[in-house]
Amino acid sequence: MTSSAMTAIELCVFDAYGTLYDFNSAVARHRAAVGPKADALSEMWRSKQIQYTWLRNSMGAYAPFWQVTGEALDHCLAAHGITEPSVRERLMGAYLALDPFPEVPATLDRLKRAGVRLAILSNGNPEMLDPMVRASGLADRFEAVLSVDAVGVFKVDPRVYALVEQRCGVTPGKVCFLSSNCWDAHGAAQFGFNTVWVNRAGAPDDNLPGRIVTQVKDLSALPSLLGVA
Ligand code: LAC
Repeated sequence: MTSSAMTAIELCVFDAYGTLYDFNSAVARHRAAVGPKADALSEMWRSKQIQYTWLRNSMGAYAPFWQVTGEALDHCLAAHGITEPSVRERLMGAYLALDPFPEVPATLDRLKRAGVRLAILSNGNPEMLDPMVRASGLADRFEAVLSVDAVGVFKVDPRVYALVEQRCGVTPGKVCFLSSNCWDAHGAAQFGFNTVWVNRAGAPDDNLPGRIVTQVKDLSALPSLLGVA
């Protein structure tokens, strides 16, 4: 993808969990209650949560991400021998108010001031996305918070990415899609978005279809990438 395509972007579409919001902040907030296995639990929870979405897609068995997130957590609590019911309750509660990554508010403001339109496209169902976005104080930055729930299938099904043009009226060539999830970035690139992988963990690229334009280590690089710094 040429740099001229990146300077003609009308709409930035962000993945939510891991890209704008730190899913590890749920366990981090309740580290004492979870105990010494907190980090391992957090990593396994995310991994199972995403595996369950792919498996449910293959089975044709969609369920809201909130349910999937709880089912993944139940598996991980059992795997780590954590039986105290209040731990589940606290972690699920924290998932409704995850912390945005530190650079997110200022970056969104910078883009918005430059006239770039902003939206979210997430596996999350509205009942979990909306409270989180509100709690973070960022709701007014986004013209749309789009959920896979509208099409009843998870990423990386192309029907998910098609929601952007349907709801925001912007063709894929004028969209910059950003995800920290490499598999989501490949799915979005394969669909036709100009896609930036937010490689927060410094991980190696996945060998999947879909050509990613570039990778950044966090979102602070985005304004200059779009020529609006
Ligand atoms: C989302 C997950 C994939 O927000 O992070 O869609």
